[in-house]
Amino acid sequence: MNDSPHQPVLYKEIIHALQPHAGGRYVDGTLGAGGHARGIMEVSAPDGRLLGLDVDPQALSLARKNLAPYEGRIHLAQASYTSLSMQLAQLQWEAVDGILLDLGASSMQFDTAERGFSFLQDAPLDMRFGPHVSQTAADLVNKSSERELADLIYQYGEERESRKIARAIVKARPLHTTRELVAAIESVPPRRGDRLHPATRTFQALRIAVNEELTSIKEVLPQAVAALKSGGRLAVISFHSLEDRIVKDFFREQSKDLVNPPYERIYEEERKATLKEVNRKPMVPSEDEIKNNPRARSAKLRIAEKL
Ligand SMILES: C[S@@+](CC[C@H](N)C(=O)[O-])C[C@H]1O[C@@H](n2cnc3c(N)ncnc32)[C@H](O)[C@@H]1O
Repeated sequence: MNDSPHQPVLYKEIIHALQPHAGGRYVDGTLGAGGHARGIMEVSAPDGRLLGLDVDPQALSLARKNLAPYEGRIHLAQASYTSLSMQLAQLQWEAVDGILLDLGASSMQFDTAERGFSFLQDAPLDMRFGPHVSQTAADLVNKSSERELADLIYQYGEERESRKIARAIVKARPLHTTRELVAAIESVPPRRGDRLHPATRTFQALRIAVNEELTSIKEVLPQAVAALKSGGRLAVISFHSLEDRIVKDFFREQSKDLVNPPYERIYEEERKATLKEVNRKPMVPSEDEIKNNPRARSAKLRIAEKL
């Protein structure tokens, strides 16, 4: 049995997208509990190999347990996917057949109260994916200026009450726990008709900022393209529009030849397209999947193939 409370999202679609095969080399850059990785190992038996990365030591030890049957074929490292090129160089893998990025936080992280990701459970304001992250959510809410807080809540949370929430946070400082933060947010009257919990967007924004998630995605995408063999595939699952936009724009950009760069990009060299989009519209989970796993509801899968 898979000892994991995290159900892999769009599982069949990922296996179909990556088309694992015997002898292939794969990377799971966001291993989590290893749900997708397990499928990759099964389908690429007897000798497909996998490099699995996660910054969270708890996720990694759970994945190690869940992937024990494939021990000789996997390499696991507690590292950020932003170090992809370096990790591959260490293994002396020149090119790989498939790369998966299943972005964001796992169910285990949300459900482990003391990690501070959930506004429904009281815990220290942490929200770090791993110990390498230099600041906690408490550092951010207590040390940022009101303006910085408002900007990040607006930008990463798409929260229209960002200014009022930032003001309430500054007034209530110092904040040490999720409950204190939720109370500060709840002191701002919610917009009429907003069905989300009032803390949803602010918590999302802080998590993204603490872990520099959007910068990390921008850093890994070119490395992933460089690492793929021709015909190899990159599959990215994102959970909100900010992530999806980065992936979409990157895939679009890389699927076009850049000839005669336009005036504003005159300093860029002409180059050939590096990718082909496998699906122009993102794949989304079926109603059945969402019924069984409500956390899948905002998932979007984009797949690209290296030319
Ligand atoms: C949605 S979960 C992945 C779940 C996994 N696909 C499974 O089937 O169990 C995302 C994981 O990515 C990890 N993560 C987030 N940012 C990361 C980064 N920069 N580098 C490596 N792992 C990261 C998180 O710690 C989390 O465990």
